[in-house]
Amino acid sequence: MSQPFDIVIFGGAGDLAYRKLLPALYRTVAEGKLPNGSRMIACCRNPDDVATYHEKAYAALREHLSEGEYKSDCAKQFQQHLQSFELDIGSADQRWQNMAELLDSEADRVRVYYLAIPPTIFGVCCQNLHAFKLINANSRVVVEKPLGYNAASANAINEEIARYFDESAIYRIDHYLGKETVQNLMALRFTNVIFEHLWDAKTIDHVQISISETVGLEGRAGFYNEAGALRDMVQNHLLQLLCLVAMESPHKMKASSIRAEKVKVLEALRPLRGDDVLRNTVRGQYVAGNHKGKLVPGYLEELGEASSNTETFVALRAHIDNWRWARVPFYLRTGKRMKQRCAEIVIQYKEVSHRVYDAEAGALTPNRLIIRLQPEESIQLTMMAKDLDTLDMRLQPAALNLNFSDTYKRFKSDAYKRLILDAVAANPSLFIHRDEVEHAWAWIDPIIEAWQSSDDTPHLYRAGTWGPPESDELLAEYGSAWFNAGERA
Ligand code: BG6
Repeated sequence: MSQPFDIVIFGGAGDLAYRKLLPALYRTVAEGKLPNGSRMIACCRNPDDVATYHEKAYAALREHLSEGEYKSDCAKQFQQHLQSFELDIGSADQRWQNMAELLDSEADRVRVYYLAIPPTIFGVCCQNLHAFKLINANSRVVVEKPLGYNAASANAINEEIARYFDESAIYRIDHYLGKETVQNLMALRFTNVIFEHLWDAKTIDHVQISISETVGLEGRAGFYNEAGALRDMVQNHLLQLLCLVAMESPHKMKASSIRAEKVKVLEALRPLRGDDVLRNTVRGQYVAGNHKGKLVPGYLEELGEASSNTETFVALRAHIDNWRWARVPFYLRTGKRMKQRCAEIVIQYKEVSHRVYDAEAGALTPNRLIIRLQPEESIQLTMMAKDLDTLDMRLQPAALNLNFSDTYKRFKSDAYKRLILDAVAANPSLFIHRDEVEHAWAWIDPIIEAWQSSDDTPHLYRAGTWGPPESDELLAEYGSAWFNAGERA
């Protein structure tokens, strides 16, 4: 990418900007990927933030970059691209006019408008972009989740943006799609013949997709208590991962083909309604417990409320009703304050159809492919092999390991960096199409309705554990168990 571009961050003094966007943009500078002359324009409503923005940006970089990444000469270079700008998004006043003049000084550039603001003001922001003639053929808008609260509100948000931007200029971020291993999942599936023939109900017993977090509310109590884990994580990240595991091969690696295949998976998801919901889902909420030897408070204490039915954990069993996946359970799980931070996809293969070794050779462990997205990015395939320490015929599981941080020493993955650069380059493959958002909500809404009309409340689990025991029972019923980040053989 050699042409300079402008990125305007609405919500420049917000948490997302400080925590994710500035570090991502810093990395583009550090890696020489930010063309000379590019401008990062951070809009802040509060004049104090405007005046002190550079200091705050330095502090944010120091806090959120990983160890050794912050270099003062690079930070200085970064600051040369950065400018703060006073703007009240909702007031169509002179400041919008100033913004138009600033951007028009480089009228031919790609412009990325990053809406790091609450969805309630997406509409007015787009309306003012339009009113002040800031939208041209080189403009794209990037929006962040939460994209709605249910299908109806997501639709309303999408409609508002669509009034001013064509679908092809709307980049809906799901930062999980920017994680390098997620893309590797597609590379693994669609470039290796061995997997293509071992990727269906004939060979796979079940699939687990699990994102466990150790953090709690992180200052987002109000938002989280309204949303809960199903809306916050399953509707987007987990369903996107499920789509990538389950979809058919797109005919080309281009956005429209990939999205079309993902939508087919979402359409084939067996709806969960009424009693099915209660049979196939488990809700949990954490109570005080221990994490790494430290006592951490329970959800209600963090929230400062006497009661709440919001789930901080969810586990569910889904089925995809098509030929490839008939009768293969997909188990999805996510939770806050769990034992370990880990995101991984486990493809659990079936047992061999006939055992040829006698019992003395030891137990046979079915093959398992583990695609780990974090904390480290790796792909591991477990298989049975002969134990070479003995002349006896003894079998033991062995692992083929691809650890990206060992293999690629300079590898510094940052989902936001990749996605911002993709938006600049007008490559929407890793962004979400409106159809995907709407199909995902259509599957999620009835689950929430069933929970709301039931008398059941979330099962309690201690912080620092793998969630409520009922989540283990969900798998035990089908003879399986959660893989739990390497705790099982
Ligand atoms: C966000 C959720 O989308 O993803 C947060 O709103 C969650 O609640 C976060 O903590 C997890 O992202 P990551 O990349 O840290 O696993």
